[in-house]
Amino acid sequence: MEQLRQAIIDAANAAGKIISSYFQGVFTVESKDGKNNLVTEVDNHSEKVIIDIIKERFPGHSIISEEVGEMIQDSEYQWIIDPIDGTVNFAHGIPICCVSIGLRHQGKMLMGVVYNPLMNEFFFAERGKGAFLNGEPIRVSAKQDFKTACLVTGFPYKWPETKEHPIKVFERMILQGLPVRRLGSAAIDLCWVACGRFDGFWEYNLNSWDVAAGYLIVREAGGRISNFDGSETTVFDKETLATNGHIHEAMLRVINNKE
Ligand code: IPD
Ligand code: CA
Ligand code: CA
Repeated sequence: MEQLRQAIIDAANAAGKIISSYFQGVFTVESKDGKNNLVTEVDNHSEKVIIDIIKERFPGHSIISEEVGEMIQDSEYQWIIDPIDGTVNFAHGIPICCVSIGLRHQGKMLMGVVYNPLMNEFFFAERGKGAFLNGEPIRVSAKQDFKTACLVTGFPYKWPETKEHPIKVFERMILQGLPVRRLGSAAIDLCWVACGRFDGFWEYNLNSWDVAAGYLIVREAGGRISNFDGSETTVFDKETLATNGHIHEAMLRVINNKE
């Protein structure tokens, strides 16, 4: 266990060094499928150092990583990597971005790290052992009253025509007079719920690498995560509602337009 812990921390620190060294500097930027869905050479560089560390120490483990895809092995361990979450922010010199690394064992999240080197914030959680920010234990907020909650969300680049546009849910939240922020990094959104800055976060169409580490960090900090129907979610599902638990049902009602 100690070796896994050391590896996830070392990999996040190595990626963090790369992210900081290029930040607001010169690097190539390309667009992926949508013209504003970006990837930079720093994403690829960060991804390489993380994967090199994992492969060197655990050559038999499976890996899912955003830019290179899946490296499936016959293993109980699976690493889920986002080499930079918040690439659009990073490309614009906005210091809200991070590296996110999750580790699953036998299909359950075991450890997660979300590290924003630009704000010197290192979030870590291990199943059953709590969640931490820079080594200090964190908890979700105690907020009970949804009417005074502070929320965060994000918008997908694409959504199915058959589904209500995510802006409609945003509109309903805003019309209730709630402050809703949009930071541009789902992993950071989740961690900021975990440490009580936000009371709730929702987003549609996130990928496993955006949420794997963050889900564990929220749960270990005492929060609740579900799909938009309130059911249990896995890192591979497409609906994310993460809250302090107290405001969860109220948020579900607004998301589902049941008020
Ligand atoms: C994105 C961020 C953003 C979310 C997008 C993600 P990336 O990840 O998490 O907050 O709204 O859906 O794709 O592309 O910066 O790794
Ligand atoms: Ca991401
Ligand atoms: Ca990314």
